Amino acid sequence: MSRSLIVANWKMHFNIHDASLYVHHFNKALNYHRSIEVVLAPSLLTLQPLSLQIDRRKVRLAAQNAYSKDDGPYTGEVSFTMLSGLVDYAIVGHSERRIYFAESLELIRDKVTAAIRNDINPILCIGESKPEKIAGETKRVIHDQLITAVSDLTAEEVKRVNIAYEPIWSISTFGGEHADPTEIQKTIDYIRYQISELYGASTASEVRVLYGGSVDDQDAGGYLALDGCDGALVGAASLDYEKFVSIIDTAQSIRLAKKKD
Ligand code: 13P
Repeated sequence: MSRSLIVANWKMHFNIHDASLYVHHFNKALNYHRSIEVVLAPSLLTLQPLSLQIDRRKVRLAAQNAYSKDDGPYTGEVSFTMLSGLVDYAIVGHSERRIYFAESLELIRDKVTAAIRNDINPILCIGESKPEKIAGETKRVIHDQLITAVSDLTAEEVKRVNIAYEPIWSISTFGGEHADPTEIQKTIDYIRYQISELYGASTASEVRVLYGGSVDDQDAGGYLALDGCDGALVGAASLDYEKFVSIIDTAQSIRLAKKKD
């Protein structure tokens, strides 16, 4: 069983001072679990100072975004090449970027490829909107987002991709509807099935699939207990270090329970 991945996506919250204060408290409150990988995705600006404040054996950093080219005349952008060595992960294709910044399937594919090229593990976000769900298009949307995003990768490279299933309607920014874990199970199974169709069952078993969408300390266990759910991508609740620590501890209890099964 691979390590569970619990990621805090701070989105556009916390300046350098707030981020540093958070990590100060978080470092003290965090219980280390060997089988849980903990990742913080702060703003780009705070990555460097936080890298000096965290213990990398216990906490890893992720970028929330980066550009697909390695360098060049792209005013305002930061490349994966520049982030290499500073972060272990990068969130790619978050629905807020797809929606607010019009990121296309092809751009997201190029970002996934660039992350891998620069030795950064992508956390690829995929998920359907409410109208798409109502129209029964969840599988088609997931299929298109997933297949395009990994289309330049070999099976070996795909193993490094972490897929975060975040139905848009369940994200706090977009309505935050509570998702029924049994419904989420079906999509997690479908995601793995798709990877297996493309790259074979053994590769599919190594790809981590996470859930994200209004995960908090109260309901995290319901998602983490799902078969094949390897972690969580947490937005709003991760801004409260006590809640985030509680989610990490829940992930550990669920692992122990799964092991006993
Ligand atoms: P919330 O947990 O605030 O719904 O955000 C989820 C998310 O978008 C994480 O990437």
